[in-house]
Amino acid sequence: MTHTPPRASHDHEPHAAHQHGADHDADGQAEILDLDAEVLAEHIASITAWLPVGAGPRHIVDLGCGTGTGTFALLERFPHAEVTAVDTSTSHLHRLFEKATKLGLADRVHPVQADLDATTWPDLGTPELVWASASMHHMADPDRTLRQVHDTLAPGGLFAVVELAGFPRFLPEDAPEDRPGLEERCHAALDRHHAEHVPHRGADWGYKLTATGFTVEAERTITVHIGPPHTDAVGRYALNSLRRMRSRVARTLTAEDLTALDRLLDTDSPHSILRRGDLTVRTERMVWAARRT
Ligand SMILES: C[S@@+](CC[C@H](N)C(=O)[O-])C[C@H]1O[C@@H](n2cnc3c(N)ncnc32)[C@H](O)[C@@H]1O
Repeated sequence: MTHTPPRASHDHEPHAAHQHGADHDADGQAEILDLDAEVLAEHIASITAWLPVGAGPRHIVDLGCGTGTGTFALLERFPHAEVTAVDTSTSHLHRLFEKATKLGLADRVHPVQADLDATTWPDLGTPELVWASASMHHMADPDRTLRQVHDTLAPGGLFAVVELAGFPRFLPEDAPEDRPGLEERCHAALDRHHAEHVPHRGADWGYKLTATGFTVEAERTITVHIGPPHTDAVGRYALNSLRRMRSRVARTLTAEDLTALDRLLDTDSPHSILRRGDLTVRTERMVWAARRT
């Protein structure tokens, strides 16, 4: 295929306001997704290496590809494959395609702008592998999306669902000194926010996949624990993640917790998270490998 910038699925273009809103949010999200790729590169590679795919797939679809973390990991793992990268965000897709061009991989990446909540999808071909990382829980009706994936996959093809246990944790439990346990309270507030706004987060994907007609061949949990000491990327990852959490939970934190959080997020403050030497990255990824039989 030729070098193509993101192709819009005009038949199913999201409503303009939705699109604008999605891309406004995407701007804040893109940097975290890129840092996620950098900091967790080894763990993501271990997931792609583990996939029970036999002979390498030639056509892969990355659903909710974001800025390309999975796309590039899959291109590396399967050197003969091409990836159709699908996302609702045009700015994520542009970022992904710019990276592909810089890496000399543009010939192997086909960005498609589409809303996967639409009842009809654009033609994504007949992939042997579909990958959805941290995107299934965003779907309005995941059971319908699972049926659409099932019908899109080649017979015998594999669907890899990767989900995460929320934002990573970075601070020691007794930090910061004046408000110990702050990060845990932010996570509790975020869980309440997600329960209201992202109800499919934490769903039983193994059960849902089986109910759709997939055979779940394998599942695993990857436990991540990095540092200390930590790299600059981990510091920026912690800063950006906590900033994003703040935007979700500020209204429900106590004034004292919000002040302590703001001190951590103030990069000019001596209490800035960037100045801490005790940061770690602690999180989990769950993976389901499901076959269309
Ligand atoms: C948390 S990000 C994960 C991105 C990427 N898969 C990764 O692992 O870094 C979720 C992605 O799903 C996309 N997304 C959410 N709802 C979508 C929908 N209805 N249709 C297409 N993409 C969607 C978002 O734009 C975002 O890029």
